[in-house]
Amino acid sequence: CGIIGYVGDQSALDVALNGLRRLEYRGYDSSGVAVVGAGALRTARRAGKLANLEKLLSEGSEADPMPGTTGMGHTRWATHGGPTDANAHPHTDCTGAIAVIHNGIIENFAALRAELEAIGHELASETDTEVVAHLLEVELGNAAAAQAAAVPEDVTPRPTRPGTGPAPGPGVPADRTAEPGAHPLTVALQRVCRRLEGAFTLVVLHRDFPEVVVGARRNSPLVVGLGTGEAFLASDVSAFIAHTREAMEIGQDQVVEARRDGVTVTDFAGEVVEGRRYHVDWDAGAAEKGGYPYFMLKEINEQPTALADTLRGRLSADGAIVLDEERLSAQDFRDVDKVFIVACGTAYHAGLIAKYAVEHWTRLPCEVEMASEFRYRDPVLDRSTLVIAISQSGETLDTLMAVKHAREQKARVLAICNTNGSTIPRESDAVLYTRCGPEVGVASTKTFLGQVAACLLVGLYLAQVRGVLYGDEVAAYVERLQRMPDLVERTLGRLEPIRELARGLADAKAVLFLGRHVGYPVALEGALKLKELAYMHAEGFPAGELKHGPIALIEPGLPVIVVVPSPRGRAHLHGKIVSNIQEVRARGARTIVIAEDGDVAVEPYADHLIRVPATSSLFAPLVTTLPLQVFACELALARGLDVDQPRNLAKSVTVE
Ligand code: G6P
Repeated sequence: CGIIGYVGDQSALDVALNGLRRLEYRGYDSSGVAVVGAGALRTARRAGKLANLEKLLSEGSEADPMPGTTGMGHTRWATHGGPTDANAHPHTDCTGAIAVIHNGIIENFAALRAELEAIGHELASETDTEVVAHLLEVELGNAAAAQAAAVPEDVTPRPTRPGTGPAPGPGVPADRTAEPGAHPLTVALQRVCRRLEGAFTLVVLHRDFPEVVVGARRNSPLVVGLGTGEAFLASDVSAFIAHTREAMEIGQDQVVEARRDGVTVTDFAGEVVEGRRYHVDWDAGAAEKGGYPYFMLKEINEQPTALADTLRGRLSADGAIVLDEERLSAQDFRDVDKVFIVACGTAYHAGLIAKYAVEHWTRLPCEVEMASEFRYRDPVLDRSTLVIAISQSGETLDTLMAVKHAREQKARVLAICNTNGSTIPRESDAVLYTRCGPEVGVASTKTFLGQVAACLLVGLYLAQVRGVLYGDEVAAYVERLQRMPDLVERTLGRLEPIRELARGLADAKAVLFLGRHVGYPVALEGALKLKELAYMHAEGFPAGELKHGPIALIEPGLPVIVVVPSPRGRAHLHGKIVSNIQEVRARGARTIVIAEDGDVAVEPYADHLIRVPATSSLFAPLVTTLPLQVFACELALARGLDVDQPRNLAKSVTVE
């Protein structure tokens, strides 16, 4: 979900809606806003895309439907409760004074809901979020009662005294919040958070406290934007980048109180903690469409730059790999005896490609695992295991939990990530950033290339420090890697034939993708892109496995895309895949063959031949993926679909 909170002197509604426009890629099942002003708390919410909410707001007769300069907005990716108006955020308490927006899942919400209902609270939605508004109501009521009993003459609100709220659960830290001056809404949120299980980012507003917007996080993203006389809380910096580039990280299990004059960060027990400030090094322009009708088209075309930026400064002139910013020592890398790669979705496919390179170059065993499965099967990990966690957003909860599990088991964790200051790098021992810039299209394109390049760098670095590859061998790879951004650029310039082909296949029922060696993960990625963007049934298979079952799927006219390895580097494999192409063609498939320049052996069997520049085998995915991205994108557009925001998906999935 996308979250924005604001306190300052601008129209909070404008700030929230502008923020939500930038966050919509994080989820778009429904959206909502809340503003405190003129003694009232006003909320509006609607199922469907943000445009539905904007329409609702424009229907009223008032010039400003929600006056006030303190407010928040939310765009939802549904977990508990379908994407209806009633389940859209914000959610309010019984009195309508408190509003809450939430990202994540509150795992003990059923017990909390039962407890609230037992004391007379009526909950209006099916969401887990709504319990938070009611728990805050209870806390603030308790605090007010305690205050009336303790210091009746004191008119300033005072924090809750220990012991007046619901009993803390086992392991809940003691309350240290009774310092004078702590804001009652902040104190109430600290107390509520101590009772919540699961993952959450919460932002809350109160009708009677227009001076603050308060947020909290556990295993879910929240960053602060620090302006002059204003402050922002958001799930990522893109929500406030148009206002300020000064940001602050909020750590695990922390609460942040934002005021016009600054912010105060505490832990859930109320102890004040330091937030880490940082400067965001990209601006709002980088997240604009830049003349393209879709972000995805822009991002596909940014791939040469994304790749060059990821490699920049990491390949030295004398042919060595330089990874000096990733905080693990060369000795740490020498101590490794096994590598695990954990990731989800497209990042997982980057990991599958990395396996071929890491094992070939380093002779270390390398396993690749979907992050959502990793910790549940009790993998064998110890101090000499290197776990590489790949994540564009740095917030994918499945990957984050795999990282935490690996560290608990004493493994060393290296994150490959595109988002500075995000959670996965913070929870890892070390990080190597892909420098692809913001990616807004929900289906990853340029960050996939960045991830593959970063993995190749790590593989070469491991081989270099462990002395498995000689200096001149590393230098030869470095030299070829340096040429890749140019080859990517050239490949992008010659993809018109695949666009045309895709437009002609808009009515196809299914498409199969075949590959061998690193072409196999490329085939998987091609199939994933087609599922994500065109909602078409698509499968990727190792071409050699086809005859063991999937070949039964082949029927006359079925498009089969084959990613062919180089006939030079992998001659033995090349011959095999040429046979595989013949096998499917003999059964009526329409073959679409992706092959490098000069590969004449495939010509007789290709109904359509898509040429890419020749590269060394392990680097080939950096070019062979491009026609598949363009194919999926063009086919989806031909089907009239929104390629930036495919149905049911979200860019960053912060639930398990
Ligand atoms: C979501 C997105 C996918 C993405 C995956 C991993 O499911 O829809 O496109 O590949 O998350 O995201 P990450 O940010 O961890 O790379």
